[in-house]
Amino acid sequence: MNLVKPEAVERVAILGAGTIGASWAAHFLSHGMAVNIWDPAPGFQARVRAFIASAWPALRRLGAPEAIDESRMAFFDDPAQAVRTCQFVQESGPENTEIKIELYSRLDDALPDDVVMASSSSGLLISELQAGRKGAERYIIGHPFNPPHLVPLVEVVGGKETAAAAVDWALEFYNGCGKKAIRINREVPGHLANRLQAAMWREAVHLVDTGVASVEDVDIAVSYGPGLRWALMGPNLILHLAGGDGGVRHAIEHFGPALESWWADLGKEPRISEAAADKLIAGVEAEAAGRSLEDLTRERDQLLISLLEMLARERGKA
Ligand SMILES: NC(=O)c1ccc[n+]([C@@H]2O[C@H](COP(=O)([O-])OP(=O)(O)OC[C@H]3O[C@@H](n4cnc5c(N)ncnc54)[C@H](O)[C@@H]3O)[C@@H](O)[C@H]2O)c1
Repeated sequence: MNLVKPEAVERVAILGAGTIGASWAAHFLSHGMAVNIWDPAPGFQARVRAFIASAWPALRRLGAPEAIDESRMAFFDDPAQAVRTCQFVQESGPENTEIKIELYSRLDDALPDDVVMASSSSGLLISELQAGRKGAERYIIGHPFNPPHLVPLVEVVGGKETAAAAVDWALEFYNGCGKKAIRINREVPGHLANRLQAAMWREAVHLVDTGVASVEDVDIAVSYGPGLRWALMGPNLILHLAGGDGGVRHAIEHFGPALESWWADLGKEPRISEAAADKLIAGVEAEAAGRSLEDLTRERDQLLISLLEMLARERGKA
C-alpha cells in the first residue's frame, strides 16, 4: 500500500453533506484544501454554501483566510466522480449500514489506490462496512464531534481488514490540519468519547429520575464544575492534581475505596422510562427558558470559539 503523503492532500471528497458533512467541508476549506462535495438531496449545493458562509466568521476567528475561496468548492452529482480527483475521502452519509455499504460499492472502481476513506459514523463498525470492499485496507472510522469545524476531536479506528498504516496515516493527516485525533486500539460500539458521555448521561438520567436533583442543577453541576476542568485536562490528569503532593498514586489510594462504593451505588437501569423522558424533556425546556435551538446553537458556538481561542493563546505561551 502506497499512500499519498498526508501533507500532500490538496483535495478532499465529502460524501454526504448534511449536518456533519457540510461542517467537515467548512473545516477543510478553512485549512486551505479544496473540497469535492456530493450529496443525493436535491438543492444540496445551496444548503452547503449557506452553511459554509454562516460558519466562516467563526472560522476566521480561528485563523481561516478572510474570504471563502469559491474556486476550491466543487459539487458533484455522482460520488464516484467526486472521489476520482481527491487525496482523502470523508464520508458522512446517513447512519445506516445498508446505505453506507451501497455507497461504498459505487466507489470500488473510482477510489484512487493511494487514498484513505474515512467514515464519520458515530456507532457503526468499520469491519462491517469494509467487508468485501476493493481497497478495504484503506477504510477507517474518522469520527468527529459536532460541529467538526469547531470541535477538534477526531476518533480514528480501523476494522478487521484495515492496514495499520492507514490508521497511522489518518492520525497524521487530521493532526496536520487542525484536528486533535486519537487512536482507538480496537472497535467498540460508540467508539470512545460517546461511551464516556453515555456513562455520565446514564447517571444524569438516574439522578433526575430518582428525584436527587433537577435537570437544570445536573447541567449546572457539570458546566460550572468538572466540565470546566475537563476542557483543560482530562479526568485522569485532573485526578493527579486531586492527590496533593502524592499525585495520582495518593489519589487512587485515598479516593479509590470511596469511588468504588459510589460506583456500586450508581444507577444501573439502562432504560429511559417514559416518566424519566417526560421529566428530562420538561426540565430541558424549562432550562432553555424560551431560547430557540438556533439561539442555543449560536450561544454554544460563540462560547466555544472564545474558549478555543483562549486555549490556543494560553497553550501557545506554555
Ligand atoms: N450529528 C452528529 O452529532 C454526528 C456527530 C458525529 C458523527 N456523526 C455521523 O455523521 C454521519 C452523518 O450524520 P449527520 O448528522 O450529518 O446526518 P444528516 O441527516 O444531517 O446528513 C446526512 C446526509 O446524507 C445525505 N444522504 C442521504 N442518502 C445518502 C446516501 N445514500 N449516501 C450518502 N449521503 C446520503 C442526506 O441528503 C444528508 O444530507 C452519520 O454517520 C453520523 O453517525 C453525526
